Parts: sequence; C-alpha cells; structure tokens
Amino acid sequence: MKRVCVTGAGGYIASWVVKLLLSKGYMVHGTVRDPCDEKKNGHLKKLEDAEERLQLFKADLLDYEDLCAAFAGCNGVLHIASPVPGRHVPNPQVELLDPAILGTQNVLNACLKTKVEKVVVVSSGSAVLLNPEWPANQEMDESCWTDIEYAKSIEQWYAVSKTIAEIEALEYAKRDDLTVITVCPALVIGPMLQSTINSTSLLLLSYMKAIRTDNSERPLVDVRDLSEAILLVFENPESKGRYICSACSYRTREFVAKMKSIFTEKSGRALLNSKKLLDLGWNYRPLEESIVDTVKNFEEAGLLEKGKPFPSTLRF
Ligand SMILES: NC(=O)c1ccc[n+]([C@@H]2O[C@H](COP(=O)([O-])OP(=O)(O)OC[C@H]3O[C@@H](n4cnc5c(N)ncnc54)[C@H](OP(=O)(O)O)[C@@H]3O)[C@@H](O)[C@H]2O)c1
Repeated sequence: MKRVCVTGAGGYIASWVVKLLLSKGYMVHGTVRDPCDEKKNGHLKKLEDAEERLQLFKADLLDYEDLCAAFAGCNGVLHIASPVPGRHVPNPQVELLDPAILGTQNVLNACLKTKVEKVVVVSSGSAVLLNPEWPANQEMDESCWTDIEYAKSIEQWYAVSKTIAEIEALEYAKRDDLTVITVCPALVIGPMLQSTINSTSLLLLSYMKAIRTDNSERPLVDVRDLSEAILLVFENPESKGRYICSACSYRTREFVAKMKSIFTEKSGRALLNSKKLLDLGWNYRPLEESIVDTVKNFEEAGLLEKGKPFPSTLRF
C-alpha cells in the first residue's frame, strides 16, 4: 500500500488532499505544528478512515529532524505547508521567506535522506503572475515566472517567497536524485473542512460582504479540483516540471455579480493557462458549484447570515 506524507495537513488545501488520499486507500502521514491543537487539527481525526490510516506528526518546516521522522517509510511527499498571510506582514524574512524557502529546502533534504521517490511542491499562481514583461492579453503558461526583483519592489513578499521556493525546488530536482513536480494554483475557493478560517477564504468572504470592493483580476480554482490535480501529478509517471492549476479568471466585481445571480453557464476567461494539466487528464467543476458549496459552507460555519436569500448577504 502506498504511504504518502502531506505537510501542513491541517490547512485548507492540505485537509482536502488528506481526505482524498484516505478515500483512495493511501496510508497517510500528516505534519502539523501541534497535533494536540484540536481547534486547528481536530477535523482531520474525524475524516473517514483516519483512525486506521492517518498518522499525525509534529513538525515545523524549519525542523529538519522532525520532517525526516514524518517522511520515514513514505514513497511520496506532498509539500503543501507554507505561510499564507492575510494582510501586511511586518517581518517578511521571518514570517514568510524563511518558512517558505528554507522550509522547502528542509523538506527536499529530508526527502533525499528518507529515500522518498517523488515530491509534489505546491507553489502558487503568484509565482507566475507578477511578470511585467509578459505580453498583455496573452495567457500565462508554465514558461511565465514572477519577476522576483519586481515583486520585491512592490513588496509582494508572499509572491517572492513562493517564486524563490519553487525555483529552488525545480533546481534541486536537476541536481539530486529526486523527482520534484510543482503545482501553481490560482486563488483557491470552495468549502473548508477545517474550523478556523484560512486567509483566502477570508478574502473571498470580504468580497461577499462587500468589505473589499477592488476590481482585481483573479484566476480561480476549486479546492477539490486542486486536490485532484495534486494527486494526478503525483500518481502519473508522465508528469514533469511545473503545472498551472486554474479553472477560469474573473474581475472581482464581475465575480461578485456572478455570485448574485448564481449563473449556470460555464464561462470566464483564462488568464492562467492549465492546458498542460488538462492534457494530463485533469478536469474542473463549473464555478457555479464552487460558489454554491462555498456559500453553504460559510453559512454553516456562521460566517454568512443563514436563512436569508443569498444575494441579500451581498452589497454591490
Ligand atoms: N489558498 C490559496 O488560494 C492558495 C493559492 C495558491 C497557492 N496556495 C498554497 O497552498 C498551500 C496551502 O495554503 P492554504 O490556502 O491551504 O493555507 P492554510 O490553510 O493557511 O495552510 C497553510 C499551512 O501551512 C502551515 N505552516 C505555515 N508555516 C509553517 C511552518 N513554519 N511550519 C510548519 N507548517 C507551517 C500551517 O500550519 P499551522 O496551521 O500550524 O499554521 C498550515 O497548515 C500554501 O503553500 C500556499 O502558498 C494557496
């Protein structure tokens, strides 16, 4: 039976990946910073088959020995942990860059040490998008990289952290005997399994409640489709290099207007191009389904007012 370790198992995306792995019969190791923190990680223990096939390990990304202990006996590692800040970060070096960059190096070193065969590193669309040289109106594919100096100049430290970590992960694979695949997801939407709200769900909620009203272009993907993509590139022996994972793009005002009408047609532009992943066999659900399920989840969690018709929770 295959044994896989997921880093940051209690997080928004990682929780769905753990659930998917369990449903496919995997033995799953999950790293968390505090296995006793029921508020953050209690939901993992309630997943179907978790009692028999999920084992949690205490590990910070900056602790190489703890990572080695978690990876021992695993064929694969899905490296998902990385800080995702909600707002201004006072000390980007300590809060973002070190855990993302040194953390990824530690993960890869620990994989080599414990003879893991394949690693999937979850990067970000923000390692693709901040490229002022890219021709306007041309979809960005895997050859497009965020310009690190440009990202630093506009203090986009999250993008800097993800871009450097991803470049180094792919370089590592060229040097050492380890297969490394990276996945660059768009902004992730869809229901949460965890009980504490993550930064990007909070961002979505702030658009739903009209707390934020900017009109940024946002490529989107559903968390369940992303989980399938992560497992697809892990399992498929043909997967190579970098994969963009994005369903469609919307300007946020347009997206909020769409939410109001709960549209039915499959639409949206493509800012990030996922052809490489689609060719590998990935597919994604209509955005309508993501919106309906997210709103239901936010209502159940008490984050949106229940019982009122959905558009009344929005001001636009
Ligand atoms: N959400 C999105 O829209 C989006 C889009 C593109 C890429 N991504 C990437 O997807 C991954 C997961 O993001 P998410 O949205 O699921 O965020 P999340 O719920 O905040 O999960 C982040 C996870 O990283 C862990 N972590 C942070 N710093 C750590 C450290 N020093 N040591 C160990 N664990 C650490 C957190 O652990 P604690 O619970 O202990 O804090 C948490 O489990 C990240 O790599 C992110 O860059 C997310």
